[in-house]
This record gives sequence, structure tokens and C-alpha cells, in this order.
Amino acid sequence: MSLELKFEETIAHDQRIEPRDWVPDAYRSTMVRMIAQHAHSEIIGMQPEGNWITRAPSLRRKAILLAKVQDEAGHGLYLYSAAETLGADRGELTEKLIAGKQKYSSIFNYPTLTFADVGVIGWLVDGAAICNQVPLCRSSYGPYARAMIRICKEESFHQRQGYELLMTMMRGTPEQREMVQEAVNRWWWPSLMMFGPPDADSSHTAQSMAWKVKRHTNDELRQRFVDMTVPQAEALGVTLPDPELKWNAARGHHDFGEIDWAEFKQVVSGNGPCNAQRVAHRKAAHDDGAWVREAAAAHARKIDERQRS
Ligand code: 3HC
Repeated sequence: MSLELKFEETIAHDQRIEPRDWVPDAYRSTMVRMIAQHAHSEIIGMQPEGNWITRAPSLRRKAILLAKVQDEAGHGLYLYSAAETLGADRGELTEKLIAGKQKYSSIFNYPTLTFADVGVIGWLVDGAAICNQVPLCRSSYGPYARAMIRICKEESFHQRQGYELLMTMMRGTPEQREMVQEAVNRWWWPSLMMFGPPDADSSHTAQSMAWKVKRHTNDELRQRFVDMTVPQAEALGVTLPDPELKWNAARGHHDFGEIDWAEFKQVVSGNGPCNAQRVAHRKAAHDDGAWVREAAAAHARKIDERQRS
């Protein structure tokens, strides 16, 4: 059986592609692109919420937020390891991120203006991530699918802590309730953009679905997220900022308004509210850590020389 046929048979039978398996170059580059962007998103995603760690309103909230941001770092490192199984180098991927040659999720280019943003990010952003990533537990590339299983478990804690934070604030003062609603108004539409452009404008979805890298299209998962979130918003007592949002019994889904794709394109192309700040912060952290990488490499060389002598 030819290598191409074995690859196609593996995909057709819903089996996993493993690092030792032959894959078409295009499959490899698709997986490196997708995994790297996911990893970059996790690492950059530490910044918006990290902004509130020193200003959390209680020790409990500070401990929860520290744990969550630390989880995101772990997800990023986990995913860079998955990218390395495809022959990618995490140092090169980081350089590409800093140089703007690789993307990270648009959602992290928005500011976190109040502590309610921490709750809304947990509820909506991590909620959207769960919608998008649970199906990826069945992605055809083994290391990525397995990484998703652990990441999704931790994302469910992220989503729950955010919702609980908001529930607490909604039982608080009128000012706290207004703070939650104002944060929801700012994060709702960017959360829908997390799922990517409409299927008709998605350059990768068709091939990624054929290779079972993605199991659903962008629009399918976006719709699933809207349908899941509406009753949660009702239970919370907040209004989602979309006058066209309503249940469509004929479709069995919620209809919702048009997303501002011009805004999405602006943010993805680097002109969002916080793009420059996020990348500059990532570059500064990378530069500040150069001495650690050099020391670790020098130590590894010394060990290697000692073992050879
Ligand atoms: N932000 C930035 N770029 C985006 C984007 C977004 N929200 N959505 C799509 N794009 C980019 C794509 O990367 C692609 O650009 P490229 O060719 O330069 O890579 C282009 O827009 C066309 O989009 P497609 O829909 O054709 O691309 P994909 O098939 O890759 O679909 C995706 C995009 C749905 C994000 C898919 O890549 C995916 O599911 N990735 C894995 C999950 C992931 O990365 N999630 C990031 C969320 S952050 C997160 O989960 C952290 C958690 O802690 C909250």
C-alpha cells in the first residue's frame, strides 16, 4: 500500500495520525499552523486576565485567577510540544509570532477594563473555547487530539469560575450588576468572532474537514455557542447585546445579528485595540528570558560534554 493510500485509509477509518506516520506536506503545514496559533493564543491570552491578578478584590479571587492564568501557560507549552512532534521548533514559532508572521486569537486584542471582564472572559471566551475545542479531541492528529482532552478539562474549570464570579456580582450592588452588563456588551461580539470567518470566507475549513482536523465548520460551532449561551445569560440576568437574537423554532436554533466582519479583519490584521501592546509584551518577556535559555543551553552542553568524556 502506498504511503498516500495508507494516510488516506487512516483518515477514512477515523484512526489517528501519529508523529511516525508519513503525511502530505500540506497536512503537516496545516497542523503546524493551527497548533502554533492555538499555542500562541494561550500564551498571549495570559495578558488580559494577568492584568487583574494584583488587583483581584479578594485572596480567593486572586488564587483562582492565578491558577487560571497558570493553566493557560501550561496549555501553550503543551501545544508547542505537540507542534514539535511535527518537526516545528518552538523558538522559531515564537519568533514568527513576535514578527507578526503567525497569528493568535483575535479575542485577546481587547482590553480588560474592569474586574467583571475576568468573569466575562471565563464565561464567554473560555466557553467559546470549549465549544471550539471539544470536537478537536477527535482531531485526526493524535498528539493534538490528546492535548485537547486535558486542555478541555481545565477550560471547563475556567468557564465555571468565570460564571460563578459573575453570578456573585449579579447578586451584588446595582453598580456591580451594571459593571457585568457593560463587560458583556464589550465581549459578546468578539467572542463570536473567535470561531473564525463565515464558512463561505474560510480558506482552510474544507480541507481541514476532509482531513478530519476540524470536525465542524466555523458557523456550526458559532451557532452551537450561541444556543448554549442564551439560557446562561438568562439565568445570570444579563442581556446579550443583539436585538436580532431570538429563538427560531423552524431552525431549532437562535437567529442572531450580523457580525462586524470589517472589525474582525482589522483585528486579525493587527489593528485591534491591543495588538501592538500584546505583541510588545510578548517580545519583552521573550527578550528578558534570553539569559535563562542561554544558561540552560550552556548547562546542557556541559552535561553532554561530561557524558562524552
Ligand atoms: N483570530 C485570529 N485569526 C483567525 C481567527 C481568529 N479568531 N479565526 C480565523 N483566523 C484566521 C485563520 O488562522 C486563517 O488565517 P491563516 O491562513 O493566516 O492561518 C484565516 O483567518 C482563515 O480562517 P479559517 O477559518 O480558514 O482558519 P481555520 O480553519 O484555521 O479556523 C479556527 C480558525 C476556528 C480558530 C481554527 O484554527 C481552530 O479551531 N483552532 C484551534 C483552536 C484555537 O486556536 N482556538 C483559539 C482560541 S484561544 C483559546 O482557546 C485559549 C483559551 O484559554 C480561551
